[in-house]
Amino acid sequence: MTHRILFVCLGNICRSPAAEGVFRTRAPHHTTDSAGTSRWHIGEPPYGPMQKAAQSRGIKLDDLRARQFTAADFDGFDLIIGMDADNIANIEALRPVGNETPVRLLTDFASHIGTDHVPDPYYTRDFDGALDLIEAAVEGLDAHLRS
Ligand code: 4NP
Repeated sequence: MTHRILFVCLGNICRSPAAEGVFRTRAPHHTTDSAGTSRWHIGEPPYGPMQKAAQSRGIKLDDLRARQFTAADFDGFDLIIGMDADNIANIEALRPVGNETPVRLLTDFASHIGTDHVPDPYYTRDFDGALDLIEAAVEGLDAHLRS
């Protein structure tokens, strides 16, 4: 079955494009996109250091461009996935009345990784650590969508 999955973070240049890239590489039969809750980086490609870290794992991000999350995304996707609690709050603030699209944390799909959010590598500078978490959680997401 094909699902429409939207990954969301703050800037849409680090975590959510990385999650999109990992997921579309692993499960290309789904429809996948990413967006940021802020408008800060609209139109920009993923952040260079994140592109580089992903590329070294065989994940290409260079065709992606940042866009802002909008209320219309609640109708365009079957599942919306945020990276931290702030993302979830900012997403939920735009939910149209009556819409029931599930909004989840990425880390919900990998309880064994021992964190309830993906720390923002734009600030931590730990791009590989973020990718480790994202890859583990995307594996759990893929399993969830198959079950
Ligand atoms: P992201 O990381 O939400 O994972 O894309 C960020 C990128 C840029 C900024 C914040 C977070 N910024 O403040 O510009």
